This record gives sequence, structure tokens and C-alpha cells, in this order.
Amino acid sequence: MAKRTVVTMPGDGIGKVVLPEALRVLDKVGFEADYVHADIGWEFWVNEGNALPDRTIKLLEEHRVGLFGAITSKPKDKAAAEISKDLADKGYVYYSPIVGLRQHFNLDVCIRPCRSFPGNPLNFIRRKEDGFDEPVVDVVVFRQNTEGLYAGVEWTDPPDGVRSALATHKKFAKFEDVPGEDLAISTRIFTRTACRRICEEAFKYAKKFGYKSVTICEKPNVIRETSGMMEEEGRKVATRYPDIDLWHTNIDAQMMWLTKNPEDYGVIVAGNMFGDIVSDGFAGLVGGLGFANSANTGVDCAVFEPTHGSAPKYEKLSPSIVNPIAMFLSSCMMLDYLDETDKATAIREAIAEVIADGSVRTYDMLKLRGGPEAIKKGAATTEQMTDAIIERL
Ligand code: NAI
Ligand code: MG
Repeated sequence: MAKRTVVTMPGDGIGKVVLPEALRVLDKVGFEADYVHADIGWEFWVNEGNALPDRTIKLLEEHRVGLFGAITSKPKDKAAAEISKDLADKGYVYYSPIVGLRQHFNLDVCIRPCRSFPGNPLNFIRRKEDGFDEPVVDVVVFRQNTEGLYAGVEWTDPPDGVRSALATHKKFAKFEDVPGEDLAISTRIFTRTACRRICEEAFKYAKKFGYKSVTICEKPNVIRETSGMMEEEGRKVATRYPDIDLWHTNIDAQMMWLTKNPEDYGVIVAGNMFGDIVSDGFAGLVGGLGFANSANTGVDCAVFEPTHGSAPKYEKLSPSIVNPIAMFLSSCMMLDYLDETDKATAIREAIAEVIADGSVRTYDMLKLRGGPEAIKKGAATTEQMTDAIIERL
């Protein structure tokens, strides 16, 4: 097979720590690839007025597969205050580069697996009459990644055209007299194409990996138009998969049931905001940010990333103590995507063995406060965790 080129985007903070560790694991498992580095993140906002430089977009346009660490992102006004002096007041506006990547490459399907590893002390346990049990969680959230509340169509003090368009809806009457500066609007736009695509991808995945159910997790009783469209498309796709059950939950109830019967769910589909919420909820049952992995996939491009951010408080800590497993599991998703499933399985098995063995654990797994003292209390460093996994390979 032709050698792959993977665009590596470490980004900021601990992204720069965990991504190189993932490359060590990928080398060890025998994945043959050329890696090209691409710039992304805060320093490029500060020095160039663009956290996602065009050269990075070009590299991804060429190679179509990216491994991403994490970036630091800040609200618009804070970003404006930190831009370099020569660029200040030149009209630069900060946008999150990862959101930018998702939009530019139409990476509309975000996949977030949440699987518990036996022996992980962070696994959720549940009270029973005679003690506790530990449900096996194996949920894969499909989050619509480009539309909905995160599409960015929003205003404070909306222009007249927007106000008059909204006035055509009778329920807008009660807002009509609100002064512009007191009126903020964020739109939730769903398109049928994107709803259909995420439902199709979810069912395809459920079939390929043997999940019994696909749950559409929205709120159609209240948000009738957008959630309703997702449900409608889900029902249509489901008719082609008679062996897979189609379930429906409301996002609020789903979060309440999260700890009641998490083992009952398989694949879950949701819009952008609810997908973000429900995937963080399930990730919390299986170890949290040190384990939460994801893929942003489009028709012909994909970027793989841990869901955690740049964790600035650990950025300068040397040796680093953060858990690299979320980054490794994201790399496994990349291997699956590239049809290198055997290598992905080997890495996942090595991770499972290290977790089950229990002698090497990062501070989060030991429920310690993060910081240099964690090592003295028995926490493994990032590098030691990587070494332990590599040893099992
Ligand atoms: P964060 O995910 O960076 O960190 C939150 C806390 O989670 C950390 O302080 C740490 O205690 C823990 N944590 C995170 N990753 C860990 C790991 N691998 N191992 C062990 N513990 C870990 O989120 P926070 O603090 O809200 O945001 C920090 C920066 O990251 C912000 O600028 C934010 O905008 C950005 N961010 C970027 C994301 C991305 O690159 N996709 C996603 C989330 C946040
Ligand atoms: Mg989130």
C-alpha cells in the first residue's frame, strides 16, 4: 500500500505533549506514514491574526487526513486584547481554528466513542441492593458537527432585515419591542442533507460494528422543526436497517438516565449542541477527558483529535503528567479510517492491558490533584504511560 501522508497539528499546550507521544505509538505498531507538521493555534492568532493559517488548510487539502492535538481558544474580546501590537486595530477577528477546520472541510460527522476499559478506576459504578456494579459502557455518539447552534449565525442587536423576517412569525410578537442591544439571537439551523448524512453514517457504523440500536437524542416535542427533521430522516434511514432498532430520547431525559442504564445504549445521533452535551456525559462515565477521543469526518477528509483542550495549567509542567490515552484512541480511529484496523486493535489491546494491570496510572486515573506532587504520590508521567503501552505492543 502506498505510504500515507498525515498532517500533524499539535496546536497549543498539552496538544504539543500528547501528539508526539501518539507518533511514538504509531511507529511502534508499524504504521508507515510521512508526517507533515502544520501550524495551528494561539501563537498564530497573536503573530499573524489567524489561528488557522492558509498554509495549514492547503496541507490538509492536499493530504486529507489530519491528527490534531488541542488548541487554546478565547472569547473575541480577550483574543483582541492579546493580538500582537502591530496587528491590533487592523480588523482581525478571532475564530476558533478547530471550528474553522470543521466548517472549511465540511467535516460534518463527528464520531465520539465512549467505551469503558475494565479495571479503569474512573469507570462509573452504580449502587445495587448488595453493593455495587459496574455497567459496561459502549456508546458511540454521532454529533452533527457543522450546523445547529454552532453554525455561528447569530447577532446581538440584529439588523432590521432579520427583525422583520422574524416578525413574520407570530411568536416573535412578544420580542418586537425589545431594544436591539438587549436582544441576542443564536439560530439553530438544520439542513435535511446534513440530517440524512449523519443518520446514514450512524446506521452504517452500527451495522459494521454490530450495535443493536441507534438512538436519536433530540427534543422534538419542543424544538419541533429542527429536532423534528432529524427524527424524520432517522426514521427514513432506519427502514433500510430492519435489524437495528431505532430509539428516540429527549436530551434532558437522556442526561437523567445517563447513570441509570448507560449499558442499554449503542449508537446515539444528535445535533451539534446536544451531541456535545451527551458525548461529554457518556465520556464522564468512562474516565473523562483523559479517555475521550473523536473523529471529525467529511466525505473525503478527516481530522482525529482528543476532545480535551490545551489544559494551560499543565502546559509548562515538566515532566508532563497528562493522560495521553485520549490522543492514542483518536489515533486508533485514524487507523480504522485508513483500513489499518489490525493496528488500531493492537493499540487498543495494549491500552486495555496497561489499564487492567494497574501499575502505571496517570494522575487523573489515581484521582490525584494535578501538579508536580502527583508524581511523588505515584502518578506516571505522560512519557511513562506511553512507554508502558509501547512495551505491550
Ligand atoms: P481542557 O480540556 O483543556 O482542560 C480541563 C481540565 O481537564 C484540565 O485542567 C485537566 O485537569 C483535565 N485534562 C484535560 N486533558 C487532560 C488529559 N489529557 N489528561 C489529564 N487531564 C486532562 O479544558 P479547559 O480548561 O476548559 O480549556 C483550556 C483551553 O482549551 C481553552 O482555551 C479552551 O478553549 C480550549 N479547548 C480546546 C479544545 C480543542 O482543541 N478541541 C476543546 C476544549 C477546550
Ligand atoms: Mg465539548
